[in-house]
Amino acid sequence: MKALSMNDVDLAGKRVVMRLDLNVPMNNGVISSDKRIRAVLPTIRLALDRGACVIALSHLGRPVEGEFDEAFSLKPVAARLGELLGMSVRFVADPFAGLDIRPGEVALCENVRFLKGEKKNNPELAAKLAGLGDVYVMDAFGAAHRAHASTEGAIRAAKTAVAGPLLLAEMEAATQVLEHPKRPLYAIVGGSKVSTKLTVLENLLRNVDGLIVGGGIANTFMLASGMDMGNSLVEEELVPDARRLMELAAARGVKLPLPSDVVVAPGLDQPEKAEVKKAGEVKPGDCVLDIAEGSVQEYAAMLSDAGTIVWNGPLGAFETKPFDQGSRGVAAVLAASPAYTLVCGGDSIAAVESFGLGDRMDYLSTGGGAFMEVLEGKVLPSVAALADRIRS
Ligand code: 3PG
Repeated sequence: MKALSMNDVDLAGKRVVMRLDLNVPMNNGVISSDKRIRAVLPTIRLALDRGACVIALSHLGRPVEGEFDEAFSLKPVAARLGELLGMSVRFVADPFAGLDIRPGEVALCENVRFLKGEKKNNPELAAKLAGLGDVYVMDAFGAAHRAHASTEGAIRAAKTAVAGPLLLAEMEAATQVLEHPKRPLYAIVGGSKVSTKLTVLENLLRNVDGLIVGGGIANTFMLASGMDMGNSLVEEELVPDARRLMELAAARGVKLPLPSDVVVAPGLDQPEKAEVKKAGEVKPGDCVLDIAEGSVQEYAAMLSDAGTIVWNGPLGAFETKPFDQGSRGVAAVLAASPAYTLVCGGDSIAAVESFGLGDRMDYLSTGGGAFMEVLEGKVLPSVAALADRIRS
């Protein structure tokens, strides 16, 4: 990507505002994977080594804008960031209250998504955020596909805006998979809803040789192929889209297998009642919560000739045992595969790390949606804004 980097600007004595993606997965207030925090430590250390102070910004989750909600506070993230840096990190509840900060110090401001105008990319808010410092470092790859005030808006509003090293490295990895993947290229896309990934799935079908869908997305595809899904999470209104995508895959010769067996229970809260059923034998009271061993084996066979495998989104309700088995099985297939394996997104990384397989993957990307958008061939708004800043 074309952008100025932190090496192109003088940071000594400067207030460096850093947009990071510290949107870590949380389970009952506890950080379940700190990968996204660890990934930006070199960026923060680089600025400190150059004599700057760091004012970090991030979002966490999707709170209602303009309303404080403790569940989405970045306070626990500030504490973890301080532990990992081995220094105190000041938590700033209101970034606009006047921040007295010296070179060598780090502050993390409260969730930018509590600020009105963040998601609508309000220009005044963007200018205020950029104005918190002298240099704006965009290093939030995971949020680079959002044209928000603290991302695209602030890059355009800042006196000086540069790309951070994580964003540069992630863009390079993603572009490599987009432009020169070792084929066959297979994508595994899980997650709860087709609606949030409809365009991703459609665009991926142009680029991949095979697509495995998982989670609630697979449920809707199974419904679309005529199976009874009982009480499972499905999006009935998207059945026509799912059918269209299956037809598109068939027309393009892209493999799009559906699970042949699944793990069902009356609900997520009754894991003790989990049982394996053939995909066509799901009964009215059943909730499909994972794929079962037969499906894992079939996917393993399909993936056996892979050159590249990209995985985004867990395949089942992996946080609750035994519904982690499908994701665990597929993670083991990737770990043993000679293909280039790339896992992207907070939940997927949390899943492979919880199985102890994180370091068996070739690349873990902090970006979920952002990575998939690069793979779709889209230009991310923050990346476009950084490129424009070279010209302006
Ligand atoms: C992510 O988790 O993919 C990023 O942090 C972006 O979060 P968002 O989808 O809520 O914008």
